[in-house]
Amino acid sequence: MTTAKIQYAVFPVAGRGTRFLPATKASPKEMLPIVDKPLIQYAAEEVLSAGVSKLVFITGSTKRAIADHFDTDHELEAELEQQGKEELLQAVRGIVPSWASCIFIRQSSPLGLGHAVLCAKPVVGNHPFFVHLADDLIDSPVACLKQMAQVYDERESSVLGVETVPMEETYKYGIVATEGRDGRLSRVTKIVEKPKPVNAPSNLAVVGRYILTGRIFEKLERTGRGAGGEIQLTDAIADLLADEAVYAYEFEGKRYDCGSKLGYLQATVEYALKHEALGTPFRQYLSELTGKLSVK
Ligand code: UTP
Repeated sequence: MTTAKIQYAVFPVAGRGTRFLPATKASPKEMLPIVDKPLIQYAAEEVLSAGVSKLVFITGSTKRAIADHFDTDHELEAELEQQGKEELLQAVRGIVPSWASCIFIRQSSPLGLGHAVLCAKPVVGNHPFFVHLADDLIDSPVACLKQMAQVYDERESSVLGVETVPMEETYKYGIVATEGRDGRLSRVTKIVEKPKPVNAPSNLAVVGRYILTGRIFEKLERTGRGAGGEIQLTDAIADLLADEAVYAYEFEGKRYDCGSKLGYLQATVEYALKHEALGTPFRQYLSELTGKLSVK
């Protein structure tokens, strides 16, 4: 079942991507390719498959390439057409279908993820919406947000995509405490941003997938600076818990943290192995290479 209820997806892409400097000095982290598509295109494909028709990008300086990527490039299309490169033509034409629209909002300065999401308020208004962080790439049989949209259809409440992480890594994530587990779903009772393992209420971490009700904007408007001096989405969700049910959903799929170099390389290798044309020669190359490698 595909939901018709959630029409908006918000992509906060205004962060500086410092972990990838100097690659991200002048070009966005979200344009880093995994094999032949940039991370932000995987993100767009995921929300489109979940039925979204309005893609809202919260951008900052150095992010112009993202808008260009989703725009029509008449010159390039004409060239490919002339050269008879039909497959490539379809690949550049089909990035966003005609029934979907892209909206770009500039975050004046990178004050934090919560502030970036708040920038979407004038467009999203009171509607429920997805938040998708493109550097969390999730490979799954059913797109992660589509899985979560089914939960929203049943509960009409905010839903956070979560996964279990090693206890020593809780300081990297928003961490939830939950109750009433039913299969992959449980109700959030507490959420804390980047706790040290000793203070973490669990090792269930929120990754870059959210469905939020419009009420989050009210909360964000009142959220002050939190962890790292930034306006944190986690803190606004903690406030929301006092008024509304919020659910944690353990999605089916494998997540790659493409905001880190190691996660990015892992995704690149695994997506290349699955690639229709590259898979077989790349596997052969890797097996030859790994035969020569030793782990120090
Ligand atoms: P990250 O914590 O990954 O920060 O932000 P970053 O700047 O992208 O990367 P590093 O840590 O410096 O390497 C989580 C998400 O929130 C967005 C980022 O673009 C990323 O998708 N974000 C963060 C904003 O849009 N605005 C902000 O002010 C902060």
